[in-house]
Amino acid sequence: MSVQNKKLLFMLLCSLILLLCLIANGSSLILPAEIKDKYADKTLESLSVLIEFFEKHASDINLDGIYGLRLAQGQLLQLNDYLTKFKSKYTDQNLHIKKLADKIDSIANESLSTIKQNFFDYYIRFLPVASKPFICEYKQRPIREHLIRQDNLDSTFDEDTSDDCFAEVLGTTNDKNTKQCMIDEQCWKMMTIDNGQDYKLTHQLLWFILAKSIGCLDNRKSSALANKHLEYIEDKFCSNIYRDAVTNKKQGRNQDLFLEQILLCSILGYEDFLKIEWLNDILQWQQPTGCFSDMSEIWTVDTKSFKKRQLLVEQEMADGCLSHKSGLASGVLAVYLRALSQ
Ligand SMILES: *[C@@H]1O[C@H](CO)[C@@H](O)[C@H](O)[C@H]1NC(C)=O
Repeated sequence: MSVQNKKLLFMLLCSLILLLCLIANGSSLILPAEIKDKYADKTLESLSVLIEFFEKHASDINLDGIYGLRLAQGQLLQLNDYLTKFKSKYTDQNLHIKKLADKIDSIANESLSTIKQNFFDYYIRFLPVASKPFICEYKQRPIREHLIRQDNLDSTFDEDTSDDCFAEVLGTTNDKNTKQCMIDEQCWKMMTIDNGQDYKLTHQLLWFILAKSIGCLDNRKSSALANKHLEYIEDKFCSNIYRDAVTNKKQGRNQDLFLEQILLCSILGYEDFLKIEWLNDILQWQQPTGCFSDMSEIWTVDTKSFKKRQLLVEQEMADGCLSHKSGLASGVLAVYLRALSQ
């Protein structure tokens, strides 16, 4: 075979492999540059309009909404770092990204001061995670098929007990001796039981993400093994959350849950959750006012009863806009924007 032919064969093989990867992934964000740019623009536009909505109604946002916004802020700050410190092919001369992150800061500050006045206990409980941008370590990794469980799945959990376990690890219970990272047997069991599904599963992962973010992870060399286990736990959670997200998408069940699933796993680096097809759906759910509401749900008898069982802390804002759902959407849009701009 001539060198020319070998080269040709090599290139053919490479394109074939790339094509196979694209098909296998549904659609990951390996895309031609023009398409990527087009979606980056769309996503930035959508996020900007959403943040403007929040700005107009800052005093109506509940803590769950703020948490989503803090995640979005963290993603934007990381993107800004990337654009300014690394040799990136994109630049942000007008500091649009940084300005958006700053805007979120003032929105969150304003709404926190309202929550402090009206729901003081709740405010104190979740202050450690609501008071600053939320940044977590990003490590690109795939979901793992063999960790996905299909039997005896259980989505029931008690929201109050779960809240107590969050307060316990954050060190914000009413108990005088409360201390960050102290965990009792009951909470550990609740957060690690491995047949969870839907919100139960996302809350388990969230609990670990928060524990890690406030420094409950031991950084001594001797703890390397424990930290490896945490990665395994994250793999397990996100692989199973992926299973739920795919089902959710197929059945069009619950957009709020779908956003939560994408957000929590993609911020850790599970890029299987970043698909143009999913982004397209999410962009279409946005309301003319910029927010996310229930108006975009297709209500069937099934989805209605599925949603009724969820006792999530949601707060309705102006025009039927939902605080938790819109907060999650801001986080998801920011993750996508970050991935599309690199
Ligand atoms: C928000 O509050 C924090 C501290 O509570 C402060 O450091 C920050 O400057 C405030 N941001 C804005 C935009 O006011």
